[in-house]
Amino acid sequence: MAVYSATTTAPVNIACIKYWGKRDTKLILPTNSSLSVTLDQDHLRSTTTSRADAAYVKDRLWLNGVEEEIKPGGRTATCIAELKRLRKELVEDVDSAAPTLSSFSVHIASYNNFPTAAGLASSASGFAALTASLAALYSLPCPPTTLSLIARQGSGSACRSLLGGFVAWNAGTLDSGLDSLAVQVAPETHWPEIHALICVVSDTKKGTSSTSGMQRTVETSPLLQHRIEHVVPQRMIDISTAIRNRNFDRFAEITMADSNQFHAVALDTSPPIFYMNDVSRAIIAVIEEYNRVALLPENGGKRKAAYTYDAGPNAVIYAPAANMKEIISMIIHFFPQQEVFKDSFGLFGTDGVGV
Ligand code: DP6
Repeated sequence: MAVYSATTTAPVNIACIKYWGKRDTKLILPTNSSLSVTLDQDHLRSTTTSRADAAYVKDRLWLNGVEEEIKPGGRTATCIAELKRLRKELVEDVDSAAPTLSSFSVHIASYNNFPTAAGLASSASGFAALTASLAALYSLPCPPTTLSLIARQGSGSACRSLLGGFVAWNAGTLDSGLDSLAVQVAPETHWPEIHALICVVSDTKKGTSSTSGMQRTVETSPLLQHRIEHVVPQRMIDISTAIRNRNFDRFAEITMADSNQFHAVALDTSPPIFYMNDVSRAIIAVIEEYNRVALLPENGGKRKAAYTYDAGPNAVIYAPAANMKEIISMIIHFFPQQEVFKDSFGLFGTDGVGV
């Protein structure tokens, strides 16, 4: 008897221009475009196996070995239904001899290879890997950009993890969401010198989830409207140009400004949302001082590192590989930690205060 199974992986991505706010919560359509760097496949990633079998009685999902309920009408159910629909429309209706996998239930098992202690959101890599594995199982003739329309409905930021390198998620304008998809701005090979250092400030689960936090911001923050209309569109253009020109100074300036504005709209939310803590702010001070010195004409006049923070206190520092050694020693000096383990793209700490 034939076994229908496919395994794929998807990496984590970290945004430089932040997605924060939905104009449609069901389809997950954002209020603004965003742009991220997809981290190296070899490091932080989700690996997902999907299996279809006529003998399965219902769709089931396991995350890191623990079964999770698939809520009817929920995000996972929506992604699975969309992929089954594409299988039927694009494969089975065209080739009547193709096995009707779309009518079988699926079993999906997903693992993250990064420590939960890293405090990184796994929904982006998780939904990207789920989408890619079902697309492989179903032999869908769809490029990653088309699949991003489906991963987006699992978790907004997941759409960007289907592509490597520097990736934009265009907000789009259609109510159907068909133009709200991820596109590659540049492949990883375009600018391999850029590395990411992940500084684990706290490994406890964040207080306000991205999903509920951003909706509260949409409903209550007057500053968000200014960001959507007058700030993000120009930043998307400027950071894409900086990436194409490999202009790290400009890339860093925009990335840090956007992280700070995202945390400003979180603070402008009612009640306010605080994602950063004192250690996060101290890391900002260290990087700002490092850049202030680097910006002096006698030192070259260019920024050497960029911090960015998502919906939590952990810092991601982007920098050219040539500066990383210096940055790591500096961070270790100011934030001594108990335990670090090194990776080619970064360094993790697990004590809750250091890198
Ligand atoms: C701060 O993609 O986790 O990381 O669409 O509700 O699942 P949902 O939200 P999610 O939000 C990510 C927010 C962010 C910024 C970003 O990744 O762009």
